[in-house]
Amino acid sequence: MNKKLIVANWKMNPTTEKAAVLLAKQVDFKGVVICPPFEFLNRVGAGLKKASLGAQDVFWKEQGAFTGEISPLMLKDADVKYVIIGHSERRALGETDEMINLKIKASLRAGPKVILCVGEPLAVRRRGLSAARSFVLNQLKSDLRGVSDRRNVLVAYEPIWAISTSGTGLTDTPEKAGQMAEYIKKSLPGIKVLYGGSVTSKNAASFVKYPGLYGALVGGASLRAAEFKKIIKAAAGQ
Ligand code: PGA
Repeated sequence: MNKKLIVANWKMNPTTEKAAVLLAKQVDFKGVVICPPFEFLNRVGAGLKKASLGAQDVFWKEQGAFTGEISPLMLKDADVKYVIIGHSERRALGETDEMINLKIKASLRAGPKVILCVGEPLAVRRRGLSAARSFVLNQLKSDLRGVSDRRNVLVAYEPIWAISTSGTGLTDTPEKAGQMAEYIKKSLPGIKVLYGGSVTSKNAASFVKYPGLYGALVGGASLRAAEFKKIIKAAAGQ
């Protein structure tokens, strides 16, 4: 039985539905959330028996003239249980805290649980842990403004510089990630916190062993079935 939640963020991978369905089948375990690209949600979801389906983004309106966007009602219809909102890769493309706040509210109205990503850039972390904490707290305050019922909100703490594709080659330590999780939980009582950023089969256990960490958000390593299975196993052993 897997007590910790392991979320696979496939980002814009793989490039075919066939590969997506195959990968999902190989990592279809309890306590796992698989977030494929929108295009593969239905087919991947149809093949899942134990894992839950997640999406990587959502729009804040239910329907209408919003070319290219995906409504929270569409996610609900596709049986999506979780939606990642505010990933740093989307923030880097211009997504603001105001947009993230609207997306969170719209998702909570429609149904999917929210995985809100927060995390500081390297320049902030270099100023120290308390600077990182203030940065994250400011994001949380803006992103969750007016969201009083947070039962269906999870926070993923992802220091931007620790994400495997950030180019820094740096990783956070489980101790510091655990401390940040405690800080977030103190600021938002009752909230569940995941850690994300270069989680692999080698370090997964050392992150999720922290009682303050409810699980992990995994990018690159979730695209390799054997590697991701080891992460799931490591988390289950906690
Ligand atoms: P990573 O990505 O595991 O490849 O560092 C995590 C994320 O960006 O969510």
